[in-house]
Amino acid sequence: MNNNNVASQPFDDQRPGTSGLRKKVKVFQTPHYLENFVQAIFDTQTDLSGGSLVLGGDGRFYNREAIQIILRMAAANGVAKVIVGLGGLLSTPAASCLIRKYKTDGGIILSASHNPGGPDEDFGIKFNTPNGGPAPESVTEAIFSRTKQIDAYRITDHDDVDLDQVGEMRIGETLIQIVDSVIDYTELMADLFDFERIHQLFNSGAFTMCFDAMHAVTGPYAKHIFEERLGAEPGTVINSTPKVDFGGGHPDPNLVHAHELVTNTQGHNGVDFGAASDGDGDRNMILGRDFFVTPSDSLAVITANAHLVKGYTSGISGVARSMPTSQAADRVAEKLGLECYETPTGWKFFGNLLDAGKITLCGEESFGTGSNHIREKDGMWAVLFWLNLLAVRQQSVESIVREHWKSYGRNYYTRYDYEAIDKAAAEALMQSLGDKLDSLVDSDIDGYQVAYADNFSYTDPVDSSISSNQGIRIGFTDGSRIVFRLSGTGTQGATLRVYLEAYEPDPQKQTSPTEEVMKPLVTIAQNLAEIAQRTGRTEPTVIT
Ligand code: G1P
Ligand code: ZN
Repeated sequence: MNNNNVASQPFDDQRPGTSGLRKKVKVFQTPHYLENFVQAIFDTQTDLSGGSLVLGGDGRFYNREAIQIILRMAAANGVAKVIVGLGGLLSTPAASCLIRKYKTDGGIILSASHNPGGPDEDFGIKFNTPNGGPAPESVTEAIFSRTKQIDAYRITDHDDVDLDQVGEMRIGETLIQIVDSVIDYTELMADLFDFERIHQLFNSGAFTMCFDAMHAVTGPYAKHIFEERLGAEPGTVINSTPKVDFGGGHPDPNLVHAHELVTNTQGHNGVDFGAASDGDGDRNMILGRDFFVTPSDSLAVITANAHLVKGYTSGISGVARSMPTSQAADRVAEKLGLECYETPTGWKFFGNLLDAGKITLCGEESFGTGSNHIREKDGMWAVLFWLNLLAVRQQSVESIVREHWKSYGRNYYTRYDYEAIDKAAAEALMQSLGDKLDSLVDSDIDGYQVAYADNFSYTDPVDSSISSNQGIRIGFTDGSRIVFRLSGTGTQGATLRVYLEAYEPDPQKQTSPTEEVMKPLVTIAQNLAEIAQRTGRTEPTVIT
């Protein structure tokens, strides 16, 4: 067995975005491309040498090949132990769980989350730190700087290891453990949720559920937990076999992409509870019969009801939401006397707050919810939280949410995405909006009074690090809001996201369709940002 030092040249595009480095598979297949980035991780995260690492991915095309390369590089870089998910699979939350449980020096997760998979689609890689969370900017920037200087990487000659059997083997000195993470992850969930009570709910015969794993990584976890442990009918989990191309679909749990699930929740024969998760299992969508729970509302309902759920009965310390997420959780926090933090987009910003015990719960409008049990958002966790809640309250999803709105008011919410637009045009649009902000404050736009208009900047309350230029917020005096930002996860051109929120405290007026309520705000947003003129788009690509 030889350790090779392979000469290489830096690539200039390896700066991680909102959630790791994401590129087309073809880019990752460019000779030395993956290797350079992985070597930059080993060069900057020096505890890995002689230390331990968790490794796995969402099963998309190139997952297995990348794992074999990383294992051989781990051996050449002196990693003592690598814990790998069976079949190379680890949901992002399960990876976070393993890093924490086995106290490793970090983890490498291979995923492009909800982006499509296949030879012409997306791939991604990210490093998680020993707390189990996505690396903070200081770490991703150090990795990026290293990629700009790298001139060689280390790799061992070795045959592919068998990823499909639980067990141990060695590459040179490096111990490779193939583990079935479903077991560790289920154990954690059983600690947090009342499995017995949920089992009774399914046993009652009066409750039905459909979970759409979208041919992605959560299939095995969902089959085991819902059907085998909790007694849900066989067939409750659909699209449960992970596929390299997610069955040709877009593994993003929203009303557009999880259409089979949505259909199963509709009409008299619709199931009582519907849920889905994304490519790597960290996102979730929650549905009742003929009813959609916005992720922002889900966070608020979870916060308001945490005391009813096993792992959280002793109380929560605080809550955080990303800036574009609706302010529904803020209202709950205010009533409960809790601190509510507003962070930039991306889970990494919750890490410090969770580690410092300042928050127990956190979430994003982009179908992400989670708690201090790990350091990633967690799709199955959110679904189990709702199941536990439904078992305790014995009400429908819809009635729980409507009661919530009665007490706290309703934050209508929608997001418009303009995907794959010209990058320069998108940047010019943001620049021009930014230039207008000062003149907007206190002005009247179509009858809406502007209360504030700014470019969001965040000072981390724990380490005082500053993240500026995190999106433009325009807030109105009636509690409504428009937020503009450019995506940090796209792999083609730029994606403009426009987030719209309207507040309705009056229970009599909480039944209007969201599209109708949002109309005036949509017009204001399109005009203010000159979206059609600058991007050539009169309609968004996706509305969620
Ligand atoms: C998107 C979401 C963000 C989420 C991230 C990773 O990032 O908006 O909330 O944390 O994916 O799942 P964006 O593309 O907007 O930068
Ligand atoms: Zn994801």
